[in-house]
Amino acid sequence: MSGRIPRQFIDDLLLRVDIVDLVDSRVPLKKSGSNFVARCPFHNEKTPSFSVNRNRQTYHCFGCGVGGNAISFLMDYAHLGFVEAVEDLAAFIGVDVPRELAVGNPSVIPVTSDVAPIYKILEAVAGFYEEQLRGDAGQKAVMYLKNRGVNGAMAKTYGLGYAPAHWNALLGRFDRQGLLDAGLVVLKEDGKVYDRFRDRLMFPIRDRRHRVIGFGGRVLDDSLPKYLNSPETAVFLKGKEVYGLSELLDCNAKPERIVVVEGYMDVIALAQYGVRNVVAALGTATSKAHMEMLFRFTPELVFCFDGDRAGQQAAWKAVEAALPCLRDGRQIKIMLLPQGHDPDSLVREEGCDGFMLRMQQSQSLSDYFFEYIGKDVELEVAEGRAKLLALAKPHLEKIPAGFFAISCCRVCEVWRERR
Ligand code: CTP
Ligand code: MN
Repeated sequence: MSGRIPRQFIDDLLLRVDIVDLVDSRVPLKKSGSNFVARCPFHNEKTPSFSVNRNRQTYHCFGCGVGGNAISFLMDYAHLGFVEAVEDLAAFIGVDVPRELAVGNPSVIPVTSDVAPIYKILEAVAGFYEEQLRGDAGQKAVMYLKNRGVNGAMAKTYGLGYAPAHWNALLGRFDRQGLLDAGLVVLKEDGKVYDRFRDRLMFPIRDRRHRVIGFGGRVLDDSLPKYLNSPETAVFLKGKEVYGLSELLDCNAKPERIVVVEGYMDVIALAQYGVRNVVAALGTATSKAHMEMLFRFTPELVFCFDGDRAGQQAAWKAVEAALPCLRDGRQIKIMLLPQGHDPDSLVREEGCDGFMLRMQQSQSLSDYFFEYIGKDVELEVAEGRAKLLALAKPHLEKIPAGFFAISCCRVCEVWRERR
């Protein structure tokens, strides 16, 4: 495609991408202090002197002196031109590259939104909600947290806050357009705006670079809707983000495994009991994009669902989404909790050890898969086995080629085991 890439788009791209993820997807990195290191891909060496810094979003090799940002990394590493590197980088985070059309027709220049002010206002509003929690108005939210057994340290770690019971608590304090762009106020037909979150316990949602990108808000009683979440905005894509990742990475940048649960409160309760490697989907099903993203941080994902019907259905959906992500070196496990429990209630009843034990006993994806599709199949007879194969086939075909063969052998194995 011809036409210039708008400067603003490139700036935004560099803000959105995380150089640690980018480099790690090409050159596996190890955490070392506040940096990530590897043996330099640009010269031969035995000990790592190539270092990537998440805060500065730069890389540098102390051995050969190369260094730069995400774009220059791609140019050097993949031998790309500038435009190609920008295109690769955009593909990496899943956005299209806009082009400015020929001069003389400025009306068709695509408008790219400037995301920096959105991040800024979200951070400021998170601070405001936190302040409110500590103030008089927030005492009812503090009581709510106490009643649910959430301690002050967790409230601080997760930056919990309180949105006051006003229609216009934000408008006087923050820029109107910024609030709209960040999804924090709702626009009425008459052009006026009101606060989206009122009288709610607020959970700031941060991305892996620790920036606030949206909020979840919970009522303090039984009214509905129980949770309200930020709408999707230029910086908040629910299908790509999870809750709790930023806080997890703060204490462990390369966890052995990541547990995926359903609720905000589940993440916080587990963390309080010492299970820190937990994230939650944002009220949506876990998508392939979620998994690809999480696999950049860990080789193993454990999906934890309530043991009820809805939980079982959600587990199967997660399995279906996971099939295309299967690869050597990646593990997926399914952990179904006993009826009537969610991770929050379970860890309070059985403690960290109880939860960990159940986690260790969780099923591998393939065991769960064959148990689920084979549950009404009689494997003792040839027709049953053929049926199992027929049922499994459309799913197994979603598995990447190298892994597919292994899975087909597994079908045979399953019926041999059950004979
Ligand atoms: N959720 C949502 N909107 C709702 C209900 C739920 O976005 N109306 C999302 C939230 O992210 C919530 C998750 O789904 O954390 C799980 O919902 P649920 O199991 O109902 O809530 P819990 O996390 O158990 O919440 P709590 O313990 O506070 O009742
Ligand atoms: Mn719950």
